[in-house]
Amino acid sequence: MKSPKVVVLDDYELLSRAGADIVTDLVSGKPDSSVVVATGETPMGLYRQLADKREMGTFDASGLTVLQLDEYRGIDPRDPRTLFGWMMRSFVEPLGISPERVVRFPTDGDAIEACAAYERALEEAGGYDLAILGIGENGHIGFNEPPSDASAPTREIELSQESVESNARYWGGLEHAPRRGITAGMSELLQARKILLVASGRHKLRIVHRALQGPVAPEVPASYLQEAEDVTVLVDREAWEGWD
Ligand code: PGA
Repeated sequence: MKSPKVVVLDDYELLSRAGADIVTDLVSGKPDSSVVVATGETPMGLYRQLADKREMGTFDASGLTVLQLDEYRGIDPRDPRTLFGWMMRSFVEPLGISPERVVRFPTDGDAIEACAAYERALEEAGGYDLAILGIGENGHIGFNEPPSDASAPTREIELSQESVESNARYWGGLEHAPRRGITAGMSELLQARKILLVASGRHKLRIVHRALQGPVAPEVPASYLQEAEDVTVLVDREAWEGWD
């Protein structure tokens, strides 16, 4: 075990480029990598940089297996606000990855069976080669809401009030925001051969430091990244500097 490597970039643009370089290097070394892909605002710049690299002919993602990180439950699967839809529009389609290479979480139906199917697909893919993650202000990774410890499996969960409030902007208000989700488990994510965490902006300052420098505890699920094998954290100055 080594502690996470923290790389501080001047701004979001540079953070996104640095992230895209890391992904490109990894995928050129193993073109059939399996990647678990976060949605959220933070990794979008990184994905745009990857799409630019693809256009320039310097990045080929066509051999990747892509696994969803998390999803809402109890919504129409065709709703464009599914996290699946977001991942398809921001990552899978711009990178020219065949939809057959994507492992999706269903928005409804039997959750136990859905998690088992996801875990079978993950096993077939040989585990995650790469996890691209963001961090919630409450310390969640994926929808592993506090409290989640390192053994938390892939499962259906009740979203925390913080997450519901944070997502309300996408749903036209709190009362319409989904209350349940399904997530890749901590136990699976922490075994990824490489974890890339991205955090940007002042609103992430407290949680980034708490997760990386505070005690490892279920109240901050991202703190378990301190115990994972190969973690790179890309932060901009806003999310890192000025903490004491
Ligand atoms: P954000 O979301 O990238 O939109 O800040 C991160 C998260 O909640 O995991």
